[in-house]
Amino acid sequence: MDAKNTKQATLTVDDKSFEFPVYGGSVGPDVIDISKLYAQTGMFTYDPGFTSTASCESKITYIDGDAGVLLYRGYPIEQLAQGDFLETCYLLLYGELPTPAQKKDFDHRVTNHTMVHEQMARFFQGFRRDAHPMAVMVASVGALAAFYHDSTDINDPKQRMIASMRMIAKVPTLAAMAYKYAVGQPFVYPKNSLDYTSNFLRMCFAVPCEEYVVNPVLSKALDRIFILHADHEQNASTSTVRSAGSSGANPFACIAAGIACLWGPAHGGANEAALQMLAEIGTVDRIPDFIKAVKDKSSKIRLMGFGHRVYKNYDPRAKLMQQTCHEVLKETGHQDDPLLKVALELEKIALNDEYFVSRKLYPNVDFYSGITLKAIGFPTSMFTVLFAVARTVGWISQWNEMIQEPNYKISRPRQLYLGDTSRNYVPLDKRT
Ligand code: ACO
Repeated sequence: MDAKNTKQATLTVDDKSFEFPVYGGSVGPDVIDISKLYAQTGMFTYDPGFTSTASCESKITYIDGDAGVLLYRGYPIEQLAQGDFLETCYLLLYGELPTPAQKKDFDHRVTNHTMVHEQMARFFQGFRRDAHPMAVMVASVGALAAFYHDSTDINDPKQRMIASMRMIAKVPTLAAMAYKYAVGQPFVYPKNSLDYTSNFLRMCFAVPCEEYVVNPVLSKALDRIFILHADHEQNASTSTVRSAGSSGANPFACIAAGIACLWGPAHGGANEAALQMLAEIGTVDRIPDFIKAVKDKSSKIRLMGFGHRVYKNYDPRAKLMQQTCHEVLKETGHQDDPLLKVALELEKIALNDEYFVSRKLYPNVDFYSGITLKAIGFPTSMFTVLFAVARTVGWISQWNEMIQEPNYKISRPRQLYLGDTSRNYVPLDKRT
Protein backbone atom coordinates (compact mmCIF):
# COMPACT_ATOMS: atom_id res chain seq x y z
CA MET A 1 0.00 0.00 0.00
CA ASP A 2 1.38 3.43 -0.99
CA ALA A 3 -0.81 5.38 1.44
CA LYS A 4 0.59 6.59 4.78
CA ASN A 5 -0.69 5.27 8.11
CA THR A 6 -1.55 8.53 9.87
CA LYS A 7 -3.50 7.37 12.93
CA GLN A 8 -5.45 4.51 14.46
CA ALA A 9 -9.22 3.97 14.75
CA THR A 10 -10.65 2.08 17.70
CA LEU A 11 -13.75 -0.08 17.43
CA THR A 12 -15.37 -1.18 20.67
CA VAL A 13 -17.77 -4.13 20.67
CA ASP A 14 -19.00 -5.80 23.86
CA ASP A 15 -16.32 -4.04 25.91
CA LYS A 16 -13.56 -5.33 23.64
CA SER A 17 -11.51 -2.80 21.68
CA PHE A 18 -9.88 -3.35 18.33
CA GLU A 19 -7.38 -1.05 16.59
CA PHE A 20 -7.35 -0.37 12.87
CA PRO A 21 -4.90 1.74 10.85
CA VAL A 22 -6.19 4.94 9.26
CA TYR A 23 -4.62 5.96 5.96
CA GLY A 24 -4.57 9.43 4.45
CA GLY A 25 -4.83 9.99 0.71
CA SER A 26 -3.12 12.88 -1.11
CA VAL A 27 -6.45 14.72 -0.82
CA GLY A 28 -9.92 13.69 0.29
CA PRO A 29 -11.24 11.72 3.26
CA ASP A 30 -9.04 9.35 5.29
CA VAL A 31 -9.88 5.64 5.15
CA ILE A 32 -10.02 3.09 7.96
CA ASP A 33 -8.30 -0.11 6.88
CA ILE A 34 -10.71 -2.85 7.96
CA SER A 35 -9.16 -5.61 5.84
CA LYS A 36 -8.26 -7.49 9.05
CA LEU A 37 -11.63 -6.81 10.72
CA TYR A 38 -13.02 -10.30 10.17
CA ALA A 39 -9.81 -11.98 11.30
CA GLN A 40 -9.72 -9.83 14.44
CA THR A 41 -13.39 -9.63 15.38
CA GLY A 42 -15.27 -12.33 13.43
CA MET A 43 -17.56 -9.60 12.07
CA PHE A 44 -18.13 -8.07 8.64
CA THR A 45 -19.02 -4.50 7.79
CA TYR A 46 -22.39 -3.79 6.21
CA ASP A 47 -22.46 -1.10 3.49
CA PRO A 48 -25.05 -1.72 0.75
CA GLY A 49 -24.26 0.36 -2.33
CA PHE A 50 -20.74 0.97 -0.94
CA THR A 51 -21.64 4.49 0.18
CA SER A 52 -18.83 4.51 2.78
CA THR A 53 -16.39 2.02 1.32
CA ALA A 54 -13.16 2.65 -0.59
CA SER A 55 -12.64 -0.51 -2.62
CA CYS A 56 -9.13 0.27 -3.87
CA GLU A 57 -6.25 2.74 -3.97
CA SER A 58 -6.19 4.81 -7.13
CA LYS A 59 -4.15 7.63 -8.66
CA ILE A 60 -6.43 8.28 -11.61
CA THR A 61 -9.48 10.40 -10.82
CA TYR A 62 -10.46 12.54 -7.86
CA ILE A 63 -13.92 13.89 -7.13
CA ASP A 64 -14.81 16.31 -4.37
CA GLY A 65 -18.58 16.00 -4.47
CA ASP A 66 -19.17 18.80 -1.96
CA ALA A 67 -17.00 21.30 -3.78
CA GLY A 68 -18.04 20.17 -7.29
CA VAL A 69 -14.47 19.29 -8.31
CA LEU A 70 -13.40 16.64 -10.82
CA LEU A 71 -9.70 15.99 -11.51
CA TYR A 72 -8.17 13.51 -13.95
CA ARG A 73 -4.60 12.78 -12.75
CA GLY A 74 -4.74 16.08 -10.86
CA TYR A 75 -5.93 18.25 -13.77
CA PRO A 76 -9.34 19.99 -13.43
CA ILE A 77 -11.90 18.83 -15.98
CA GLU A 78 -12.54 22.45 -17.06
CA GLN A 79 -8.88 22.76 -18.16
CA LEU A 80 -8.72 19.37 -19.87
CA ALA A 81 -11.85 20.28 -21.84
CA GLN A 82 -9.64 22.77 -23.72
CA GLY A 83 -7.60 19.90 -25.23
CA ASP A 84 -8.80 16.91 -27.21
CA PHE A 85 -10.13 13.51 -26.18
CA LEU A 86 -7.06 11.50 -27.16
CA GLU A 87 -4.92 13.78 -24.99
CA THR A 88 -7.22 12.92 -22.06
CA CYS A 89 -6.96 9.23 -23.00
CA TYR A 90 -3.17 9.44 -22.89
CA LEU A 91 -3.29 11.21 -19.55
CA LEU A 92 -5.63 8.65 -17.99
CA LEU A 93 -3.65 5.69 -19.31
CA TYR A 94 -0.10 6.91 -18.69
CA GLY A 95 -0.56 9.37 -15.83
CA GLU A 96 1.01 12.42 -17.53
CA LEU A 97 0.04 14.77 -20.34
CA PRO A 98 1.83 13.81 -23.56
CA THR A 99 4.58 15.87 -25.16
CA PRO A 100 3.81 16.86 -28.79
CA ALA A 101 5.86 13.87 -30.03
CA GLN A 102 4.15 11.44 -27.62
CA LYS A 103 0.74 12.80 -28.64
CA LYS A 104 1.50 12.34 -32.34
CA ASP A 105 2.64 8.78 -31.73
CA PHE A 106 -0.38 7.98 -29.54
CA ASP A 107 -2.85 9.39 -32.10
CA HIS A 108 -1.12 7.30 -34.77
CA ARG A 109 -1.29 4.11 -32.66
CA VAL A 110 -5.00 4.56 -31.88
CA THR A 111 -5.78 5.42 -35.50
CA ASN A 112 -4.05 2.29 -36.73
CA HIS A 113 -6.19 0.02 -34.60
CA THR A 114 -9.61 1.37 -35.62
CA MET A 115 -10.60 -1.45 -37.98
CA VAL A 116 -12.28 -4.55 -36.59
CA HIS A 117 -11.88 -8.08 -37.91
CA GLU A 118 -14.13 -8.58 -40.93
CA GLN A 119 -15.79 -11.54 -39.15
CA MET A 120 -17.30 -8.98 -36.77
CA ALA A 121 -19.51 -7.67 -39.58
CA ARG A 122 -21.04 -11.16 -39.90
CA PHE A 123 -21.47 -11.36 -36.17
CA PHE A 124 -23.75 -8.30 -36.40
CA GLN A 125 -26.06 -10.02 -38.90
CA GLY A 126 -27.32 -12.29 -36.12
CA PHE A 127 -29.00 -9.41 -34.28
CA ARG A 128 -32.52 -8.17 -34.84
CA ARG A 129 -32.47 -4.73 -36.44
CA ASP A 130 -34.53 -3.35 -33.55
CA ALA A 131 -32.12 -4.64 -30.88
CA HIS A 132 -31.04 -1.97 -28.40
CA PRO A 133 -27.54 -0.87 -29.48
CA MET A 134 -26.32 -1.33 -25.88
CA ALA A 135 -27.24 -5.03 -26.16
CA VAL A 136 -25.24 -5.12 -29.38
CA MET A 137 -22.32 -3.36 -27.68
CA VAL A 138 -22.24 -5.77 -24.74
CA ALA A 139 -22.12 -8.67 -27.18
CA SER A 140 -19.74 -7.24 -29.78
CA VAL A 141 -17.17 -5.83 -27.33
CA GLY A 142 -17.33 -9.13 -25.42
CA ALA A 143 -16.81 -10.90 -28.75
CA LEU A 144 -13.50 -9.06 -29.20
CA ALA A 145 -12.22 -11.37 -26.47
CA ALA A 146 -12.69 -14.20 -28.95
CA PHE A 147 -10.37 -12.43 -31.40
CA TYR A 148 -7.68 -11.36 -28.93
CA HIS A 149 -7.66 -13.93 -26.18
CA ASP A 150 -4.45 -15.83 -26.81
CA SER A 151 -2.56 -12.63 -27.68
CA THR A 152 -3.45 -10.97 -24.36
CA ASP A 153 -1.28 -11.95 -21.43
CA ILE A 154 -2.59 -9.63 -18.73
CA ASN A 155 0.62 -9.97 -16.73
CA ASP A 156 2.68 -8.50 -19.57
CA PRO A 157 2.52 -4.64 -19.47
CA LYS A 158 3.22 -4.44 -23.22
CA GLN A 159 0.35 -6.76 -24.11
CA ARG A 160 -1.92 -4.94 -21.68
CA MET A 161 -1.14 -1.67 -23.47
CA ILE A 162 -1.82 -3.22 -26.89
CA ALA A 163 -5.20 -4.47 -25.61
CA SER A 164 -5.88 -0.97 -24.21
CA MET A 165 -5.10 0.72 -27.52
CA ARG A 166 -7.25 -1.81 -29.37
CA MET A 167 -10.13 -1.11 -27.05
CA ILE A 168 -9.93 2.70 -27.31
CA ALA A 169 -9.66 2.43 -31.09
CA LYS A 170 -12.22 -0.29 -31.83
CA VAL A 171 -15.07 0.51 -29.45
CA PRO A 172 -16.08 3.58 -31.55
CA THR A 173 -16.01 1.44 -34.70
CA LEU A 174 -18.32 -1.12 -33.06
CA ALA A 175 -20.56 1.68 -31.73
CA ALA A 176 -20.91 3.15 -35.23
CA MET A 177 -21.61 -0.35 -36.62
CA ALA A 178 -24.33 -0.85 -33.99
CA TYR A 179 -25.93 2.42 -35.14
CA LYS A 180 -25.62 1.61 -38.86
CA TYR A 181 -27.08 -1.84 -38.31
CA ALA A 182 -30.09 -0.39 -36.46
CA VAL A 183 -30.87 2.07 -39.28
CA GLY A 184 -30.25 -0.48 -42.04
CA GLN A 185 -27.34 1.32 -43.66
CA PRO A 186 -24.02 -0.21 -44.77
CA PHE A 187 -21.14 -0.11 -42.33
CA VAL A 188 -18.66 2.71 -43.00
CA TYR A 189 -15.01 1.75 -42.56
CA PRO A 190 -12.81 4.04 -40.47
CA LYS A 191 -10.91 6.78 -42.27
CA ASN A 192 -7.53 7.12 -40.63
CA SER A 193 -6.79 10.61 -41.97
CA LEU A 194 -9.50 12.00 -39.69
CA ASP A 195 -9.16 12.74 -36.01
CA TYR A 196 -10.78 10.33 -33.53
CA THR A 197 -14.14 12.05 -33.13
CA SER A 198 -14.51 13.23 -36.74
CA ASN A 199 -13.84 9.66 -37.82
CA PHE A 200 -16.53 8.44 -35.42
CA LEU A 201 -19.08 10.96 -36.76
CA ARG A 202 -18.26 9.89 -40.31
CA MET A 203 -18.62 6.18 -39.46
CA CYS A 204 -22.06 6.99 -38.01
CA PHE A 205 -23.45 9.44 -40.54
CA ALA A 206 -21.72 8.95 -43.91
CA VAL A 207 -23.41 6.93 -46.65
CA PRO A 208 -21.62 5.53 -49.72
CA CYS A 209 -23.71 7.55 -52.20
CA GLU A 210 -22.55 11.00 -51.13
CA GLU A 211 -19.57 12.90 -49.80
CA TYR A 212 -19.63 13.41 -46.02
CA VAL A 213 -18.09 16.57 -44.69
CA VAL A 214 -17.47 16.60 -40.94
CA ASN A 215 -18.88 19.67 -39.18
CA PRO A 216 -15.95 20.90 -37.00
CA VAL A 217 -18.25 22.51 -34.40
CA LEU A 218 -20.16 19.25 -33.86
CA SER A 219 -16.95 17.20 -33.89
CA LYS A 220 -15.38 19.48 -31.27
CA ALA A 221 -18.56 19.36 -29.16
CA LEU A 222 -18.72 15.55 -29.23
CA ASP A 223 -15.00 15.36 -28.48
CA ARG A 224 -15.60 17.50 -25.37
CA ILE A 225 -18.54 15.28 -24.36
CA PHE A 226 -16.15 12.32 -24.58
CA ILE A 227 -13.65 14.15 -22.33
CA LEU A 228 -16.36 14.86 -19.74
CA HIS A 229 -17.34 11.18 -19.62
CA ALA A 230 -13.86 9.64 -19.83
CA ASP A 231 -13.55 8.58 -16.20
CA HIS A 232 -15.35 9.04 -12.93
CA GLU A 233 -13.55 7.22 -10.14
CA GLN A 234 -15.09 4.03 -8.70
CA ASN A 235 -18.62 4.37 -10.16
CA ALA A 236 -20.85 1.32 -10.73
CA SER A 237 -19.53 0.35 -14.17
CA THR A 238 -15.87 0.97 -13.25
CA SER A 239 -16.26 -1.11 -10.11
CA THR A 240 -17.84 -3.78 -12.31
CA VAL A 241 -14.81 -3.72 -14.64
CA ARG A 242 -12.45 -3.97 -11.67
CA SER A 243 -14.51 -6.77 -10.15
CA ALA A 244 -14.61 -8.73 -13.41
CA GLY A 245 -10.90 -8.09 -13.97
CA SER A 246 -9.98 -9.15 -10.45
CA SER A 247 -10.50 -12.78 -11.46
CA GLY A 248 -7.88 -12.38 -14.19
CA ALA A 249 -10.52 -12.35 -16.96
CA ASN A 250 -9.83 -11.19 -20.51
CA PRO A 251 -9.89 -7.35 -20.64
CA PHE A 252 -12.35 -7.19 -23.56
CA ALA A 253 -14.78 -9.33 -21.53
CA CYS A 254 -14.24 -7.02 -18.52
CA ILE A 255 -15.12 -3.94 -20.59
CA ALA A 256 -18.23 -5.76 -21.88
CA ALA A 257 -19.24 -6.24 -18.23
CA GLY A 258 -18.75 -2.51 -17.65
CA ILE A 259 -20.94 -1.71 -20.66
CA ALA A 260 -23.69 -3.96 -19.27
CA CYS A 261 -23.62 -2.09 -15.96
CA LEU A 262 -23.54 1.32 -17.65
CA TRP A 263 -26.77 0.50 -19.51
CA GLY A 264 -29.03 0.97 -16.45
CA PRO A 265 -31.12 4.17 -16.13
CA ALA A 266 -29.59 5.05 -12.74
CA HIS A 267 -26.17 5.21 -14.46
CA GLY A 268 -25.41 5.72 -18.16
CA GLY A 269 -29.03 5.34 -19.23
CA ALA A 270 -29.93 8.58 -17.43
CA ASN A 271 -29.43 10.91 -20.42
CA GLU A 272 -31.85 8.83 -22.47
CA ALA A 273 -34.31 8.93 -19.57
CA ALA A 274 -33.76 12.70 -19.10
CA LEU A 275 -34.60 13.43 -22.73
CA GLN A 276 -37.66 11.19 -22.59
CA MET A 277 -38.76 13.06 -19.46
CA LEU A 278 -38.35 16.46 -21.19
CA ALA A 279 -40.39 15.19 -24.16
CA GLU A 280 -43.11 13.90 -21.85
CA ILE A 281 -43.34 17.25 -20.05
CA GLY A 282 -43.45 18.84 -23.51
CA THR A 283 -44.21 22.45 -22.59
CA VAL A 284 -43.14 24.87 -19.87
CA ASP A 285 -46.67 25.25 -18.47
CA ARG A 286 -46.70 21.56 -17.52
CA ILE A 287 -43.57 21.79 -15.35
CA PRO A 288 -45.33 22.65 -12.03
CA ASP A 289 -47.50 19.51 -12.24
CA PHE A 290 -44.43 17.43 -13.02
CA ILE A 291 -42.48 18.86 -10.07
CA LYS A 292 -45.47 18.11 -7.85
CA ALA A 293 -45.44 14.48 -9.05
CA VAL A 294 -41.68 14.20 -8.39
CA LYS A 295 -42.15 15.41 -4.81
CA ASP A 296 -44.95 12.91 -4.23
CA LYS A 297 -42.97 9.87 -3.00
CA SER A 298 -45.78 7.47 -3.94
CA SER A 299 -45.37 8.43 -7.63
CA LYS A 300 -41.79 7.01 -7.79
CA ILE A 301 -41.09 9.68 -10.42
CA ARG A 302 -37.60 11.20 -10.29
CA LEU A 303 -36.29 14.25 -11.99
CA MET A 304 -33.95 12.50 -14.39
CA GLY A 305 -30.59 14.21 -14.93
CA PHE A 306 -30.74 15.53 -11.36
CA GLY A 307 -28.91 14.24 -8.32
CA HIS A 308 -25.71 12.30 -7.97
CA ARG A 309 -24.32 9.82 -5.49
CA VAL A 310 -21.13 11.85 -5.05
CA TYR A 311 -21.80 15.43 -6.24
CA LYS A 312 -23.77 17.21 -3.59
CA ASN A 313 -22.93 20.50 -5.27
CA TYR A 314 -23.18 21.40 -8.99
CA ASP A 315 -21.67 18.63 -11.18
CA PRO A 316 -18.72 20.46 -12.86
CA ARG A 317 -19.38 18.45 -16.03
CA ALA A 318 -22.94 19.77 -16.16
CA LYS A 319 -21.68 23.36 -16.50
CA LEU A 320 -19.47 22.44 -19.47
CA MET A 321 -22.28 20.33 -20.89
CA GLN A 322 -24.74 23.23 -20.75
CA GLN A 323 -22.24 25.44 -22.63
CA THR A 324 -21.65 22.69 -25.22
CA CYS A 325 -25.41 22.27 -25.59
CA HIS A 326 -25.84 25.94 -26.49
CA GLU A 327 -22.95 25.79 -29.03
CA VAL A 328 -24.44 22.73 -30.74
CA LEU A 329 -28.00 24.07 -30.84
CA LYS A 330 -26.73 27.35 -32.33
CA GLU A 331 -24.75 25.47 -35.00
CA THR A 332 -27.63 23.17 -35.92
CA GLY A 333 -30.28 25.89 -35.77
CA HIS A 334 -32.13 24.29 -32.86
CA GLN A 335 -31.93 27.26 -30.47
CA ASP A 336 -35.71 27.28 -30.27
CA ASP A 337 -35.94 23.57 -29.50
CA PRO A 338 -38.93 23.33 -27.12
CA LEU A 339 -37.05 20.71 -25.10
CA LEU A 340 -34.30 23.25 -24.37
CA LYS A 341 -36.90 25.71 -23.10
CA VAL A 342 -38.38 23.00 -20.85
CA ALA A 343 -34.89 22.04 -19.61
CA LEU A 344 -33.86 25.61 -18.78
CA GLU A 345 -37.10 26.35 -16.96
CA LEU A 346 -37.08 23.01 -15.12
CA GLU A 347 -33.51 23.65 -13.97
CA LYS A 348 -34.42 27.17 -12.78
CA ILE A 349 -37.43 25.95 -10.81
CA ALA A 350 -35.67 22.93 -9.29
CA LEU A 351 -32.62 24.97 -8.22
CA ASN A 352 -34.91 27.23 -6.17
CA ASP A 353 -37.24 24.57 -4.81
CA GLU A 354 -36.83 23.54 -1.16
CA TYR A 355 -37.26 19.81 -1.99
CA PHE A 356 -34.24 19.79 -4.33
CA VAL A 357 -32.17 22.36 -2.41
CA SER A 358 -32.47 20.53 0.93
CA ARG A 359 -31.49 17.22 -0.69
CA LYS A 360 -28.60 18.85 -2.56
CA LEU A 361 -30.00 17.76 -5.92
CA TYR A 362 -28.36 19.61 -8.81
CA PRO A 363 -28.28 18.91 -12.56
CA ASN A 364 -25.81 16.18 -13.43
CA VAL A 365 -23.94 15.77 -16.73
CA ASP A 366 -26.91 13.94 -18.25
CA PHE A 367 -29.38 16.77 -17.89
CA TYR A 368 -28.12 18.58 -21.01
CA SER A 369 -26.30 15.79 -22.83
CA GLY A 370 -29.49 14.26 -24.27
CA ILE A 371 -30.60 17.48 -25.97
CA THR A 372 -27.07 18.00 -27.29
CA LEU A 373 -26.67 14.50 -28.69
CA LYS A 374 -30.12 14.66 -30.28
CA ALA A 375 -29.16 17.91 -32.02
CA ILE A 376 -25.93 16.31 -33.30
CA GLY A 377 -28.17 13.68 -34.93
CA PHE A 378 -28.06 10.67 -32.61
CA PRO A 379 -31.24 8.79 -31.67
CA THR A 380 -31.86 8.37 -27.92
CA SER A 381 -31.01 4.67 -28.05
CA MET A 382 -27.41 5.64 -28.95
CA PHE A 383 -26.83 7.99 -26.00
CA THR A 384 -25.56 5.36 -23.59
CA VAL A 385 -23.45 3.87 -26.37
CA LEU A 386 -21.66 7.22 -26.75
CA PHE A 387 -21.07 7.23 -23.01
CA ALA A 388 -19.54 3.75 -23.33
CA VAL A 389 -17.24 4.97 -26.13
CA ALA A 390 -15.96 7.74 -23.86
CA ARG A 391 -15.75 5.68 -20.67
CA THR A 392 -13.78 2.85 -22.30
CA VAL A 393 -10.50 4.66 -21.60
CA GLY A 394 -11.45 5.17 -17.94
CA TRP A 395 -12.37 1.52 -17.51
CA ILE A 396 -9.22 0.30 -19.20
CA SER A 397 -6.99 2.70 -17.20
CA GLN A 398 -8.57 1.51 -13.95
CA TRP A 399 -8.20 -2.11 -15.04
CA ASN A 400 -4.50 -1.52 -15.83
CA GLU A 401 -3.97 0.17 -12.48
CA MET A 402 -5.57 -2.77 -10.68
CA ILE A 403 -3.48 -5.41 -12.47
CA GLN A 404 -0.28 -3.45 -11.70
CA GLU A 405 -1.14 -3.46 -8.00
CA PRO A 406 1.29 -6.06 -6.55
CA ASN A 407 -1.22 -7.52 -4.08
CA TYR A 408 -4.48 -7.24 -5.95
CA LYS A 409 -7.09 -9.75 -4.83
CA ILE A 410 -10.21 -11.20 -6.40
CA SER A 411 -13.26 -9.09 -5.41
CA ARG A 412 -15.32 -11.16 -3.04
CA PRO A 413 -17.72 -9.23 -0.80
CA ARG A 414 -19.49 -10.97 2.05
CA GLN A 415 -23.10 -10.68 3.20
CA LEU A 416 -25.50 -10.43 6.09
CA TYR A 417 -27.39 -13.72 5.72
CA LEU A 418 -31.08 -13.61 6.66
CA GLY A 419 -32.28 -16.79 4.93
CA ASP A 420 -33.19 -20.15 6.42
CA THR A 421 -30.75 -21.95 8.61
CA SER A 422 -29.84 -25.55 7.77
CA ARG A 423 -32.92 -27.75 7.14
CA ASN A 424 -33.49 -31.21 5.67
CA TYR A 425 -34.36 -31.91 2.06
CA VAL A 426 -37.81 -33.53 1.57
CA PRO A 427 -38.21 -35.71 -1.58
CA LEU A 428 -40.81 -34.39 -4.05
CA ASP A 429 -43.36 -37.20 -3.48
CA LYS A 430 -43.29 -36.52 0.28
CA ARG A 431 -44.02 -32.78 -0.02
CA THR A 432 -47.55 -31.55 0.59
N1 ACO B 1 -35.45 13.37 -8.35
C1 ACO B 1 -36.18 13.46 -7.20
N2 ACO B 1 -35.73 13.08 -6.00
C2 ACO B 1 -34.49 12.59 -5.96
C3 ACO B 1 -33.68 12.46 -7.08
C4 ACO B 1 -34.20 12.89 -8.33
N3 ACO B 1 -33.48 12.79 -9.44
N4 ACO B 1 -32.48 11.93 -6.72
C5 ACO B 1 -32.54 11.73 -5.42
N5 ACO B 1 -33.75 12.12 -4.94
C6 ACO B 1 -34.18 12.13 -3.54
C7 ACO B 1 -34.56 10.74 -3.05
O1 ACO B 1 -35.91 10.47 -3.25
C8 ACO B 1 -34.19 10.84 -1.59
O2 ACO B 1 -35.19 11.56 -0.92
P1 ACO B 1 -35.56 11.19 0.60
O3 ACO B 1 -34.33 11.47 1.41
O4 ACO B 1 -36.71 12.07 0.93
O5 ACO B 1 -35.94 9.72 0.60
C9 ACO B 1 -32.93 11.71 -1.59
O6 ACO B 1 -33.07 12.55 -2.75
C10 ACO B 1 -31.62 10.93 -1.67
O7 ACO B 1 -31.72 10.04 -2.77
P2 ACO B 1 -30.89 8.70 -2.93
O8 ACO B 1 -31.58 7.83 -3.92
O9 ACO B 1 -30.59 8.14 -1.59
O10 ACO B 1 -29.54 9.27 -3.53
P3 ACO B 1 -28.43 8.42 -4.23
O11 ACO B 1 -27.16 9.12 -4.00
O12 ACO B 1 -28.50 6.98 -3.86
O13 ACO B 1 -28.87 8.51 -5.78
C11 ACO B 1 -28.92 8.90 -8.08
C12 ACO B 1 -28.13 9.07 -6.78
C13 ACO B 1 -29.17 7.40 -8.36
C14 ACO B 1 -28.08 9.46 -9.24
C15 ACO B 1 -30.27 9.65 -7.96
O14 ACO B 1 -30.06 11.03 -7.67
C16 ACO B 1 -31.15 9.50 -9.21
O15 ACO B 1 -31.87 8.52 -9.34
N6 ACO B 1 -31.08 10.51 -10.15
C17 ACO B 1 -31.82 10.42 -11.38
C18 ACO B 1 -31.08 9.53 -12.35
C19 ACO B 1 -29.85 10.19 -12.92
O16 ACO B 1 -29.89 11.34 -13.38
N7 ACO B 1 -28.74 9.43 -12.94
C20 ACO B 1 -27.47 9.90 -13.52
C21 ACO B 1 -26.37 9.82 -12.53
S1 ACO B 1 -24.93 10.56 -13.24
C22 ACO B 1 -24.24 9.37 -14.18
O17 ACO B 1 -24.43 8.17 -14.06
C23 ACO B 1 -23.37 9.89 -15.24
